[in-house]
Amino acid sequence: MNTWLVEKLCCPGCGGRLAQVGEGLKCSACSRSFECHDDIPILVAQDPADRHTAEQVEYFEKEARARGEYSIEPWQRRYLERLRESYVPCDGDLVVDLGAGSGFMAIELAKLNCTCIACDITLTNLVQVSTVARRLGLAERVHVVCCDVQNLPIGSDIVDCVIANSILEHLPRDTRAASEINRVCRRRAGLMVSAPLAFKYIYPPFWPIHFVHDREMGHLRHYDDMSLARIFSDWEQSCVYYTGHFRKVAARLAELVGMSVDWERVEQTDRRLEDKRYGASTVICVFGRGTGA
Ligand SMILES: C[S@@+](CC[C@H](N)C(=O)[O-])C[C@H]1O[C@@H](n2cnc3c(N)ncnc32)[C@H](O)[C@@H]1O
Ligand SMILES: [Zn+2]
Repeated sequence: MNTWLVEKLCCPGCGGRLAQVGEGLKCSACSRSFECHDDIPILVAQDPADRHTAEQVEYFEKEARARGEYSIEPWQRRYLERLRESYVPCDGDLVVDLGAGSGFMAIELAKLNCTCIACDITLTNLVQVSTVARRLGLAERVHVVCCDVQNLPIGSDIVDCVIANSILEHLPRDTRAASEINRVCRRRAGLMVSAPLAFKYIYPPFWPIHFVHDREMGHLRHYDDMSLARIFSDWEQSCVYYTGHFRKVAARLAELVGMSVDWERVEQTDRRLEDKRYGASTVICVFGRGTGA
């Protein structure tokens, strides 16, 4: 296993240092052993995981298996643009992508010379991310770790930027994940968070769609810029964006009934509306810490 990565990791149970033993890892403090799969460390503290987390793995394993070739979609490009409006990636910055899914943020930031660790509880996602990274010649800069982001197996004060897109709403203990983010980040760091927007800002006729979607995906709650600011009270909010306005939801519905959609145009319209909270469906906050943002 990559020795650079092992040095950055720690035991998810006790925070102790990990050492490579055979194909796996062992905690030097509590002696717990952890397996690796295809060189991917599986650093999950509790075994078996709680029911919600087990259901999440089942859902996202299916989603990952249905995913096609890696390509960056218009909405993903816009996420990257928004991050870069507040956070300037520097060569060698350590970026951690929490609940990375397809890993597009980690892959795209690695192309900008950041070193990224993609964390996810769903192993199939991580196998795909590392395959894509190898194919794109980014294996040195994209590392993957199977873990629960509420118990991050990453050392303290070493991370330059955390990406937490569409993950907090999946977590039974979102504030626990926030304290883990605070712990792993350096004093000066960046943070991007996106989450479903609070119902009071969503058009009521769309509520049923969101209820169904929340149930299906295992969303436990919605947020707004104020609730995110409370959870990340150690951070200064540098930018807030609201996405997923009426046109975007309508375009998604049109696509579902077989109509073709120009997503680049839809995203451009959505970006023009991104300071309007009412009528959106997602909130994105970019924070800085120790930057005077
Ligand atoms: C909605 S997807 C978001 C993927 C990606 N961040 C994006 O914006 O496209 C949520 C991801 O979080 C992962 N996940 C859910 N609960 C998790 C947990 N407790 N720890 C780590 N990852 C988790 C899922 O496996 C899934 O890949
Ligand atoms: Zn330990």
